[in-house]
Amino acid sequence: MIQRPKGTKDLLPQDTYKWQIVESKLKEVLDSYNFKEIRVPVFEHTELFQRGVGETTDVVQKEMYTFNDKGGRSITLRPEGTAGVVRAYLENGMASMPSPIKLWYNMGMYRYENVQKGRLREFHQIGAELIGSSSFLADVDVILMANDFFKKLNIPNIKLTINSIGCPKCRAVYQDKLREFFKDNLENYCDTCKTRYVKNPMRMLDCKEEKCKKMNVGAPKMIDFLCEECQEHFENVKKYINKAGIKYEIDPNIVRGLDYYTKTVFEFIDEKTGLTVLGGGRYDGLVEEFGGQPTPAVGFATGVERLMEMYDEYNSEVEDKVPDLYILSMGENANIEAMDIAYKLRIDGFIVEKDIMDRSFKSQMKYANTTKSKKLIVIGDEELSKKTIKIKDMATGEEKEIGLNIDEIKSNL
Ligand code: HAM
Repeated sequence: MIQRPKGTKDLLPQDTYKWQIVESKLKEVLDSYNFKEIRVPVFEHTELFQRGVGETTDVVQKEMYTFNDKGGRSITLRPEGTAGVVRAYLENGMASMPSPIKLWYNMGMYRYENVQKGRLREFHQIGAELIGSSSFLADVDVILMANDFFKKLNIPNIKLTINSIGCPKCRAVYQDKLREFFKDNLENYCDTCKTRYVKNPMRMLDCKEEKCKKMNVGAPKMIDFLCEECQEHFENVKKYINKAGIKYEIDPNIVRGLDYYTKTVFEFIDEKTGLTVLGGGRYDGLVEEFGGQPTPAVGFATGVERLMEMYDEYNSEVEDKVPDLYILSMGENANIEAMDIAYKLRIDGFIVEKDIMDRSFKSQMKYANTTKSKKLIVIGDEELSKKTIKIKDMATGEEKEIGLNIDEIKSNL
């Protein structure tokens, strides 16, 4: 039997309904901040991610699903949403629309990662991008919205951590300090780190190799080298988050795995597993990198699989919808009547189950019980001639005689 590729998951009916609940709750939050949904292609030109996410990131160096299409173009399955959304923003003239532009998405992402708990090769993100505001107020709004996600889903054990990774101006000074720090030990670092030393030493802080992590202890922190503007921006973000009454920790070690970030970065961590459930930050240079006018932006994405794990833990009582009615019928005339009733009720939004297997009365009854239907009616020759049926409440076992017509059935559901 052919099996699914490593790092992918089948989402089965016993779980999809929970995803739908979570997706609709998060949509309510996104609606309340007036974000609008965007959908972009699953694949893009590879160059988009090389330039957007950054040549020295793990995502670009190790994790992209890249192939040549039949026309010889290098194509990549999106490993994240921001680059595609910013491309779409520029390509569709959103840059000339009134600012800010507020977009959200719910999309599958693809990264060739080492598969382990919480780390998949196909996963889903619900993300939000606020494009066009340089104000710290935008960072705060986006962080509040992310925080609302967890409140809306009744998820408690979540920790907000924030940091500032500065702007290109102050980062240049910091990168030099980092090189100084790494210099003496450089030959002991992994090969990837060695290549990052010259191009982007900050990426060395993001290395997952244990030996590199150990040597990174005590490295200078970006937060200590912020320029005046970045410092003031960060102070304001913190002040306003405080005012909103949201608890957070400053974590100077957050560098994020993607190169486009500037100034504020943040992560929401599952306190039980230590996994990052949501991550984001400001990316003031990306629109320009893709050929647009300098345009500030800030956003985040949550990993839906990781979020679902937490949702399940704290919302175990949530159940799927069950049929309002099961119609059991015997004989051709009764089958036709059952079909007609089911059709009319379904149009009115009721969930209706009926026999479509031409089964015996006994096996229809057996199957009806597995559907967890709330009510049940039986239609046979006798019911057809008397024009009455019994409607049974499946929870209490109570039975009631009613007329065999759609209005009476409806008023008893
Ligand atoms: P990211 O931190 O790479 O950011 O991913 C965001 C979230 O996606 C993570 O916090 C995690 O929950 C989930 N995630 C990432 N990789 C995996 C994986 N292999 N398996 C399961 N879940 C995963 C971004 O992608 C940015 N585009 C977020 C952003 C939007 N920043 C600004 N705007």
